[in-house]
Amino acid sequence: MFSSDDIKKKLGYAAAEYVDNGMTIGAGTGTTAYWFLQALAAKIKNGLSVEAVPTSAQTARVLREQGVPLKELNEVDTIDLVIDGADEIDPAFNLIKGGGAAHLQEKMVAAASKKMLVLADESKLVNVLGAFPLPVEVIPYGSRQVVRRIKEKYGIEPRLRLKEGKPLVTDHGHHILDCPFGKIEHLHAVHAWLNQVPGVVENGLFLGYATATLIGYKDGTLVYTEK
Ligand code: 5RP
Repeated sequence: MFSSDDIKKKLGYAAAEYVDNGMTIGAGTGTTAYWFLQALAAKIKNGLSVEAVPTSAQTARVLREQGVPLKELNEVDTIDLVIDGADEIDPAFNLIKGGGAAHLQEKMVAAASKKMLVLADESKLVNVLGAFPLPVEVIPYGSRQVVRRIKEKYGIEPRLRLKEGKPLVTDHGHHILDCPFGKIEHLHAVHAWLNQVPGVVENGLFLGYATATLIGYKDGTLVYTEK
């Protein structure tokens, strides 16, 4: 049996095999994507030529340390392939993301990408999204009103995400409300409703972005599936 870290490492290195010379790559965020960043950097040292668009400041830092050529999202037209992790994946490849508080930038990069490969261990596979509390990124000003609106609409208690006892501040200066839906049956309706509430910047539902998944199992097997 493989440890969770071993599986993440295997996934990261296997994912790098889907990167071809000359590609513009979206580089994901999180503990699984981290291993993809390491594998990508190793391939670049061995002669692969790519440019990478990071999905967070943390990912940009890791890539910069490894000497990987970076591009801002504003400097590229489209991205060939984004490789990222997820907090939950349903059978249609819809995702919850944002466990690492980066889903705003991750979604902007995914939206600019022709393809999205999602890396995850089997624990992230679910039939219905929502057991993982849905991250909703909000402008700090007046966010109490967003909490009230979500409570009234769905009867759930959004929780302000904290870091070291203080509200976590995202790369783009916002806060995160973690919303314990339990089950989200009407994904598109929830996505659209949340994003129209004044003060909401972006929610962590990724609907229709992922084109492939690479899933790691405890016995060390990796399974690649394309939509
Ligand atoms: C960050 C994310 C991550 O991809 C997601 O939280 C999965 O992370 P990990 O691979 O560490 O479990 O969405 O915002």
